[in-house]
Amino acid sequence: MSFNDGWRFAKTDKVPETPPRDWESVTLPHTWNAVDGQDGGNDYWRGTAMYARAFPCPELEPGGRAVLEFLGAAMTADVYLNGECLAHHEGGYSTFRVDITDALKDENTLTVAVDNSANDRVYPQKADFTFYGGLYRGVNLITVPAEHFELVKDGTPGIKVTPALSDDLKAATVTVETWHNGSEVEITLNGETKTAQNTAVFTVENPHLWAGTEDPYLYTVTAKLQSGDEVSTRFGIRKIGFDPNLGFILNNRPYPLRGVSRHQDREGLGSALTMKEHREDMELIREIGANTVRLAHYQHAQEFYDLCDEYGLCVWAEIPYITQHMDAGRENTLSQMKELITQCYNHPSIVCWGLSNEIAVHGMSEDLMENHRLLNDLCHKLDSTRPTTMAHAFMLDKDSPLIDIADIGSWNLYFGWYLGELSQNDSFLDEYHAAHPDRVIGFSEYGADANPRFQSPRPESGDYTESYQCVYHEHLLKCIEERPWLWATHVWNMFDFAADGRDEGGNNGQNQKGLVTFDRRLKKDAFYLYKAVWNKREPFVHICGSRYADRAEAVTEVKVYSNLTPVTLFVDGKALDTKDGKTVFTFKVPLTGEHVIEAKAGDCADRITVRKTDMPNQNYILGRSGAVVNWFDREEYAPSCYSICDELGALLADPRTAGTVRELMELIQSSRGDVAVSALNNESLLTMLGNTPVRELLRRAGEAVPQERVREFNSRLQKVRK
Ligand code: GCU
Repeated sequence: MSFNDGWRFAKTDKVPETPPRDWESVTLPHTWNAVDGQDGGNDYWRGTAMYARAFPCPELEPGGRAVLEFLGAAMTADVYLNGECLAHHEGGYSTFRVDITDALKDENTLTVAVDNSANDRVYPQKADFTFYGGLYRGVNLITVPAEHFELVKDGTPGIKVTPALSDDLKAATVTVETWHNGSEVEITLNGETKTAQNTAVFTVENPHLWAGTEDPYLYTVTAKLQSGDEVSTRFGIRKIGFDPNLGFILNNRPYPLRGVSRHQDREGLGSALTMKEHREDMELIREIGANTVRLAHYQHAQEFYDLCDEYGLCVWAEIPYITQHMDAGRENTLSQMKELITQCYNHPSIVCWGLSNEIAVHGMSEDLMENHRLLNDLCHKLDSTRPTTMAHAFMLDKDSPLIDIADIGSWNLYFGWYLGELSQNDSFLDEYHAAHPDRVIGFSEYGADANPRFQSPRPESGDYTESYQCVYHEHLLKCIEERPWLWATHVWNMFDFAADGRDEGGNNGQNQKGLVTFDRRLKKDAFYLYKAVWNKREPFVHICGSRYADRAEAVTEVKVYSNLTPVTLFVDGKALDTKDGKTVFTFKVPLTGEHVIEAKAGDCADRITVRKTDMPNQNYILGRSGAVVNWFDREEYAPSCYSICDELGALLADPRTAGTVRELMELIQSSRGDVAVSALNNESLLTMLGNTPVRELLRRAGEAVPQERVREFNSRLQKVRK
């Protein structure tokens, strides 16, 4: 029975006797950070709030139980029935259930105290996304007879299915385990019913395989007790493998996983999504043609894993053990992992369990290592069929013993965005692969922020233009295509998402590395680049730069992305040129006035309109369009002396400025939570950033770094002659 409506809500930590009429009336899913969690400044409300609801005693069979199901309460929850606290749950992304039978009265008041305030125990606490608070996934009341399947322990579905395929894929044994308090259970699969105490093993000859996006076939197994209580689950029969040179293997064939990451949120709704939004996200991921999705950085809604099962996407599932290890958080990592695996085990889409993300950014410790060993052992104990993985930050020591803990690994690299050159992505992967030929290597994050308002004929890293995002991804796409041994690659990110700590790129409060905007209304040009390579079903042509309408250059570059060839470009109805090739087709178009530019390939066409202007349109340039202009860009500096305009390496090399610049780096680090900047005091990173001007680092760090302090450091630098 859905308990999604009829709630009263207030930001208070007082447990009411009955749902107060003067509290706000809300329907689940609900988050209190839908608005302030995405407006920047990192000042969204974090605290304890109450949800209260009345309900009559449900009808129960003799000995029957009533169990409340919470699909997601962020981040911790205390469940009160008629004033009595019945449960405490830590972890904002998993399902938990509470048996309320013994506390029921004829008329009941259910109150849930939900808390997303900062602490040193429950992950996540430091990360580049908004930690929305609320009952953002829905609540149900489940009634079961006296004899029933287990509901409470770790939010289990009560049934666990482990298919094992023969080497030649011709037969499978399917082990079905159940948890219940009855004496025997009837388990039915493929028309065959077996009676068992808990576990039955079936043989399926010539199984219809779950074969990724091409044929994601699902079986259903049902278990029934004599009382009539019944559970069922879908599952898939498939074989997965991971090889250092062949990459990912599905059903004995190399099957490179190429796709995107996703956060569970949406503009205006925050994390409180319904099936409608989940479906829309899935449709966009299918349109781009991805065959994998990293569901970052926490357990997502069951509906989404279900969609992945149905559409054949391979999933990287993970817990929010991220950015900064907390000595007091060990228990919480273990319980979140236990819930993730228990609740998600049956999904054929899931191919690995992610232990942590960029966890060593703030330093290594024995406690961090031990935490990972325990997590890794726990995963193996709960699931012998899937490997564990980790997402490492690029500055992690390549020989760190941390890397050896997980079965396979993956890197988050941002060369060409936060630092360095695009080609460093290629060299990093090649050098690492050569140095560690036995490791299974993935590319778990890469991306560049783009605000589609910003456009440039000369795109550069850090300009937030849609144009640079294309240049960036054209390079990265080639990089991954040339390295089929990468077991999985995931664009960071499919969608822009709320990161309230960010104040940058003309859209404060958002990480804009998405290929689609936060509201899902706009597919950025780079979306079509991937679609051209990955989507084999839907022929199309796309002309980039539709938002780059005013152009000052006499001859402009027009880029077309398509999965067809050849592509012909028409200007004002006349054919300009036809190009053979693959994916990216580039044309030079002379501009004289207003022109309609049309690309045609096969039966497909796309058109844009551009205008020749005398001067570049200032609205296309970050900092000139009403967005933030950094104070240091307006400042004048004595060029004979050092300043923040100088490269980090030069400032570190001169003993007279090294101390000052190190202090400044620490200031940047402590002011800003995001990873590339927050690790600035790490030696190897300082080396990698050698030829980046300090001013550039400050620009990336945004407004969080106090201006006055930076001025002070700069005037110290200005006193030292070069
Ligand atoms: C990280 C991290 C993400 C983050 C991303 C970024 O390294 O894992 O959570 O959003 O980089 O900086 O965009």
